[in-house]
Amino acid sequence: MVVLVMMYSSSSVMKATSDVNKVNYSQDTIYQIVTDRFHDGDPSNNPEGQLYSQTDLHKYMGGDWKGIIEKINDGYFTDLGITALWISQPVENIYNVHPEGYTSYHGYWARDYKKTNPFYGDFEDFDELINVAHSNGIKIIMDFTPNHSSPALETDTSYVENGAIYDEGSLISNYSNDTHGIFHHNEGTDFSSYEDGIYKNLYDLADYDLQNEVLDQYLKDSIELWLDKGIDGIRVDAVKHMSQGWQETLVNHIYSYQPVFTFGEWFLGQGEVDTKNHDFANESGMSLLDFQYGQQIRAVLMSEEENWLDYQDMIEETSISYQEVNDQVTFIDNHDMSRFQKESASNLNTEMALAVLLTSRGVPTIYYGTEQYLTGESDPENRKPMPGFDKTTKAYQIISKLAHLRKSNLALGYGKTTERWVNEDVYIYERKFEDHIVVTAINSGENSYTITNMNTDLPEGTYSDVLDGLLNGNSLNVDGDGTVSEFELQANEVAVWEITVANDDPKIGHVGPMAGQPGNEITVNGEGFGDTPGDVLFDDNGASITTWSDSEIVLTVPEVSGGLYDVKVVTADSVESNAYLNVEVLTNHLLPVRIVVEQASTNYGEDIYVVGNTQELGNWDTDKAIGPFFNQVMYSYPTWYYDVSVPADYPLEYKFIKKDTEGNVIWESGTNHTYTVPSEGTDVITSIWRD
Ligand code: NOJ
Ligand code: NOJ
Ligand code: CA
Ligand code: CA
Repeated sequence: MVVLVMMYSSSSVMKATSDVNKVNYSQDTIYQIVTDRFHDGDPSNNPEGQLYSQTDLHKYMGGDWKGIIEKINDGYFTDLGITALWISQPVENIYNVHPEGYTSYHGYWARDYKKTNPFYGDFEDFDELINVAHSNGIKIIMDFTPNHSSPALETDTSYVENGAIYDEGSLISNYSNDTHGIFHHNEGTDFSSYEDGIYKNLYDLADYDLQNEVLDQYLKDSIELWLDKGIDGIRVDAVKHMSQGWQETLVNHIYSYQPVFTFGEWFLGQGEVDTKNHDFANESGMSLLDFQYGQQIRAVLMSEEENWLDYQDMIEETSISYQEVNDQVTFIDNHDMSRFQKESASNLNTEMALAVLLTSRGVPTIYYGTEQYLTGESDPENRKPMPGFDKTTKAYQIISKLAHLRKSNLALGYGKTTERWVNEDVYIYERKFEDHIVVTAINSGENSYTITNMNTDLPEGTYSDVLDGLLNGNSLNVDGDGTVSEFELQANEVAVWEITVANDDPKIGHVGPMAGQPGNEITVNGEGFGDTPGDVLFDDNGASITTWSDSEIVLTVPEVSGGLYDVKVVTADSVESNAYLNVEVLTNHLLPVRIVVEQASTNYGEDIYVVGNTQELGNWDTDKAIGPFFNQVMYSYPTWYYDVSVPADYPLEYKFIKKDTEGNVIWESGTNHTYTVPSEGTDVITSIWRD
């Protein structure tokens, strides 16, 4: 009785619970929805006048959360095998129309992060969306824009809504009268450097100064509100345009409060490979939308400018450059690129691309309407309303079969990729995690090929095509020694063969989040952990276990010093798993601090970095020093600055170094700089270079 009373009285602060695993998306298939364009389930919430149109794609068109709920309830997603919906940013957006006739239907022009966008629904509708989704085994991922508010001009207060941002209805600041100093006032970026893109406006969007304490607190409080609402994932907009340091504090805040899978958008054009993008994915604690993957599959199957040899190079290269390649979020198109399906083209290339996407490494995302062969070139043509909900299209059936396979066969979520046969037209690849194996063969050329000398880890036997011949696949014969009997792969054929056998030996497939301070919650997934709790080790240190099952262990990060640890599961029978490498233990929860160093003159090719006495500052290892520092926008050479994430309440010691492109290091002379990080908020520390 007492317990009951307590439960009721604390219900207002209780977090929505669900059975879905919020940090591991290895068995999920995501579906990306532009909420306004998906389905209008409640015409009564549609805007009126200038904001609304049934024909102008720049206006609101009526789609809402009720519409998504309706489609969850009628089985559109579950039959499609979809287990996660990425929806438009749910927060209130501006109401004014941009001089070019644009509106905020896309959700990227926030006005108040603590309110809902009324044209999508109210908080009651949002709660219903979460509940209906969770009771159907579906996760909800929200888009989030911490880089900017909305379009604004420094000199024209009447321009749109002047970038104004509100906290539950009360004005914090607007762009031209920035009372709290929450915005950058450096004009628009010309995209000429990483620094320029971070500290200047992205187009005409009022850019946040994320080091501002009021804003930092407001954005972090806001994301707590949506985490409390029960969201299961966050897609962070424009991560290339915010400092990595501040974003590390954002993800750390999320992972300390309620860990959910968080992935960023770092746009890359066709053929673009960016080591900064890789570094961000490996160090920030966030995954990324995998544009390198997306652009490559488009080059092979959409524009047909490249072939499977190029694709295989990308698979090889990214398996090294992304430490957690299976956690990057893959796609063939999205709302910022032309749709994969061309008006004049047959459906075949879209179908083949979907089959490859859904069997490749990474968490696959289907852009709404691709299963209905929706077409459209650039924005807003690529965001047309959903044309219908036909479950019989071939694309729908292909997605359904493979999304279900992803749930039943761990090879797709956890497996490595091995190329088994490749030429310009043909690509045959194997995904393997222990005794879970999926082999996919595609011939996108115009001729049939005889496949000889192919090896596989599939055991001896005959395998039927998982796609049931939807793309003309046949069965495969494997001989005892792992050689495949010669077979014909027809033009435009795709076949998928699989086997899944559970294994009793402990094997880790996924750890998430990959960074956290002692006390934070981390989830380990895989198989063969046994039903009786054993140990989880961070190097040699045992973690305390919250829950334990044969495939999932929830634990708290042990009290060890900051650093990278190898995580291992040891079963109750003392059998050790593989080591899952480089799980980052932070020294304490992270705060954003701007480090400024004056009078640091350098020779051509040299840059300034900081290195210090914690994991966050590289533990005195100059290869892990933080930087290169910036010296153009917020401060100018010979003053340098960099926004870093550092452990709260910690006595830091650090030095600045000069490093050139060959890695030669010049240390500052004298004693270390010292600084104790505050308990909360943000800070700026300024030093003079010690020659
Ligand atoms: C990237 C988003 O995907 C795009 O659609 C948006 O306009 C910009 N970021 C600005 O938020
Ligand atoms: C920057 C370091 O590069 C990175 O490895 C680390 O994750 C963060 N700081 C947070 O400590
Ligand atoms: Ca509506
Ligand atoms: Ca920015």
